[in-house]
Amino acid sequence: MTPPSFAAKHSPVMPTSTSLNFSSLGERAQPPTIAKLMTMALENPELLSIAAGFTDTSNLPVEAVEQAVAKLASRPGQPEYLQYGSNPGRPELRRMLAEHLALQEPALDQAEIQRGAFITNGSQQALYLAVQVLCDPGDIILVDRPSYFVFLEMLRGLGVEAVSIPTDANGLVDGEAMSDMLVDLKISGRAQRVKAVYFVSYFSNPSGRSLTAAEKSGIAESLTAADLVIPVIEDAAYRDLYYSEPWPAPSVLSIPSWEQFPKLYTSTLTKPFATGLKVGFATCTDVEWRAKMLNVKAHHDFGTANFNQALFEQVLSDGGFRDQLRRIRPAYEAKMRALDGALRQEGLSDLGWKWDQPAGGLYLWLTAPVGLDTGLDSEFCQACVEAGVLYVPGELCYGDDAPIDTIRLSFGVLNQEQLQEAAKRFGMVAKHFASV
Ligand SMILES: Cc1ncc(COP(=O)(O)O)c(C=O)c1O
Repeated sequence: MTPPSFAAKHSPVMPTSTSLNFSSLGERAQPPTIAKLMTMALENPELLSIAAGFTDTSNLPVEAVEQAVAKLASRPGQPEYLQYGSNPGRPELRRMLAEHLALQEPALDQAEIQRGAFITNGSQQALYLAVQVLCDPGDIILVDRPSYFVFLEMLRGLGVEAVSIPTDANGLVDGEAMSDMLVDLKISGRAQRVKAVYFVSYFSNPSGRSLTAAEKSGIAESLTAADLVIPVIEDAAYRDLYYSEPWPAPSVLSIPSWEQFPKLYTSTLTKPFATGLKVGFATCTDVEWRAKMLNVKAHHDFGTANFNQALFEQVLSDGGFRDQLRRIRPAYEAKMRALDGALRQEGLSDLGWKWDQPAGGLYLWLTAPVGLDTGLDSEFCQACVEAGVLYVPGELCYGDDAPIDTIRLSFGVLNQEQLQEAAKRFGMVAKHFASV
């Protein structure tokens, strides 16, 4: 008898395929593109990933966390922070984060923000809860254009259709076109399927753009005129990540044209503090909507990790969050400039590539020269992977009618030297495609 080979002896037990009957959600949900991009980057150290929205590992707040943990551990009494917490999250953390938001929105009453507040496992969970309690398969959510691609994937998983809010040639919300679109939805009998509107309004993922107060008001006015006073979800994940000045537009929470609308405002401590803590913060103006989301949250986890929340409470009261923001804002601006400068040096502008410098956030949003396909299955994308650089194809970031020629580049995780090398590899491919 031949002995089993080393490989056979040591190969992991492979899962076998099954013929289970999955739910319609199980059938619909596809492997997440973000996980695929993250795995490609993590598995291949040679590949420079300007794809996944990781934060800057070298600037993560190790000292602030170390101090907070030591303080928690030396607290007299029982370590309640190692016990289960409550479903809506720690009251003191909710109070502190409501205070933080009230400083950004002077027209708002802190007590009101606090009443609607809850803590989630990253803001991703709040987005999921919001959609899950509002939508059935076949329903519609209006989304910004371009939009956060993980949100769009989630909608597909839930069988919800994304319909883009129209924009003009400069990428600004086009109120008139939006009104026309809403009329069309009404005529086709689909308006009653529109359950919510969603947008990323500060230093957006993917475009780096922020919405002006006029654009936000315009959306509310078009909806009101169409008799669609539907829930609004404002995703402010990058609001704290401005480089020198906060974006001046208030959120929908304090813009008068949104007054009648049920509003959910989501933000996070992952991007501006520590992605690994996965703590998000949301506040909802509608009592029933909030209650439904919390009912479903109890099914998910009946409370976000209590320790992570207690840790963040400590960090906030030590001033560690403020210090971290002061540290990372200029660091991200410098990285944005490094990538932007390197792309320009590679001659991309001369080749017809277009992009703007953002005033905050983690992303550059590029439009390729006319006709160049940069999609996930394109030759260009393949050539970039072969050259050792990975980006997010912009086509993933549209609810509908996706153009093929946009790209999202993230400068969050790579250092300046790596960003320059990534730009060099990207530039090499871009030049090659310009010459064929
Ligand atoms: C626009 C936007 N919203 C929400 C999230 C979710 O982030 P988290 O769950 O880490 O708070 C992200 C993460 O990349 C994002 O880019």
